[in-house]
Amino acid sequence: MERESSIGRNQFQQQQLLRRRWAIPILATLLISFLIISAYLFSSSSSSLRLISSSSFSISQQRLSHSFKTPLFVESKIKPSPILSASNHSIPRLAYLISGSVGDGESLKRTLFALYHPHNTYVVHLDLEASPAERLALVAFVKENPVFDKFQNVRVIVRANLVTYKGPTMVTNTLNAAAILLKEGGDWDWFINLSSSDYPLITQDDILHTFASYPRHFNFIEHTSKIGWKETHRARPVIIDPGLYKAKKSDIIWVTERRGLPTAFKLFTGSAWMMLSRQFIEYCVWGWDNLPRTVLMYYANFVSSPESYFHTVICNAEEFQNTTVNHDLHLISWDRPPKQHPHILNKADFPKIAKSNAPFARKFHRDGTVLDMIDQQLLHREKEGFVPGSWFEGNTSNLEFKPVKDVSDLRPGPGAEKLKLLIDGLVNADGFDRKHCI
Ligand SMILES: *[C@@H]1O[C@H](CO)[C@@H](O)[C@H](O)[C@H]1NC(C)=O
Ligand SMILES: *[C@@H]1O[C@H](CO)[C@@H](O)[C@H](O)[C@H]1NC(C)=O
Ligand SMILES: *[C@@H]1O[C@H](CO)[C@@H](O)[C@H](O)[C@H]1NC(C)=O
Ligand SMILES: *[C@@H]1O[C@H](CO)[C@@H](O)[C@H](O)[C@H]1NC(C)=O
Repeated sequence: MERESSIGRNQFQQQQLLRRRWAIPILATLLISFLIISAYLFSSSSSSLRLISSSSFSISQQRLSHSFKTPLFVESKIKPSPILSASNHSIPRLAYLISGSVGDGESLKRTLFALYHPHNTYVVHLDLEASPAERLALVAFVKENPVFDKFQNVRVIVRANLVTYKGPTMVTNTLNAAAILLKEGGDWDWFINLSSSDYPLITQDDILHTFASYPRHFNFIEHTSKIGWKETHRARPVIIDPGLYKAKKSDIIWVTERRGLPTAFKLFTGSAWMMLSRQFIEYCVWGWDNLPRTVLMYYANFVSSPESYFHTVICNAEEFQNTTVNHDLHLISWDRPPKQHPHILNKADFPKIAKSNAPFARKFHRDGTVLDMIDQQLLHREKEGFVPGSWFEGNTSNLEFKPVKDVSDLRPGPGAEKLKLLIDGLVNADGFDRKHCI
């Protein structure tokens, strides 16, 4: 037993010696190759550094970030959707929110028919004031329509929101629809917020054809920093919207305290109707930058926040300021200042409507005869039918579904020229580049 163990010890010592003999050349080789690699790294151009991702090279990483001007903030890693240049000339996709309240079901359907194009995406919402029966009828209508069924691009918000007129719940509803569209609406380019009392004045073929030649990052939002009378009537009062926490709708509560104007950001105001780019909607909904969120919380206690929220966010975000085009794309016939109550458009207004270059108009009465005139003379739409286009030939009110030709084969009419006049007038106006957010 003892001998065995002593032999074992001897073998062990020999092995150790052998290992040491090998260890020195191996270590030397490693050291030399390390020196060669690091010498190569520190002397080579920064582009070759891009290939190395090991965290042990902290110095080279710093050099990397310097040479590529990548800021060290985490939010810079969140890249918004790429901006498609106008030179692509592909047909844009629009994402529409059409909302209504109790009794608006029929006019909402009519607006949807007039706005429908298989290239776009639609979210329709009847708020919580409408009865479940009315909402279910809308769901059934969308489900049973063979065209909507074929293209799967109309979605009804079933978990309806309580929306208070003038309250922040209007903005949360708009953001809710925008988030649904981001998640499930495919890759659209612009978001448009309409109600059932809005109506298009030109066809979707006209709109899609014309917007194909403008940069996709434009945001059409009427805005100004001259808040005027709104300072005392909107910015100073403090309100609470019970719609945020009550199950039943009631009017906003006025708090007796008044507050000062914000100093952390500048207030902007304008029209509640707009067409916003996908990049800007992502910025507002995803919230990697805190501005949209803090401004949203500020507006929770503001009267008529839909007329200010997006305006204030876009004009205080440096990267979006220069994307604004100061127009709301609507024909609205206002009362004399303070521009609070739009005049209801009727038959007598038709000449003005037909002359307008705006793609949308409001406000219309449910089933006003002026809508029939728009259908017949501007959209060529039959009752209960789609606006004719090359995607749907024949009798568009006959729901016997016919094979569809290429949906991106547009047939623009005179409306396309009118819209082009309007947009060209805006973006080619003197000082367009200098007049954002003033
Ligand atoms: C748009 O054009 C850019 C460059 O001109 C190109 O990289 C991009 O792939 C194009 N996008 C589409 C959808 O054609
Ligand atoms: C969106 O649409 C509704 C109509 O349902 C409107 O009242 C509201 O002010 C619009 N704008 C915003 C920013 O929510
Ligand atoms: C916006 O436009 C102004 C005026 O042309 C320019 O000075 C500014 O740098 C632009 N801002 C951004 C973020 O590009
Ligand atoms: C279209 O179809 C509807 C319903 O089938 C019918 O009432 C209408 O007269 C038709 N219109 C034309 C122009 O054929």
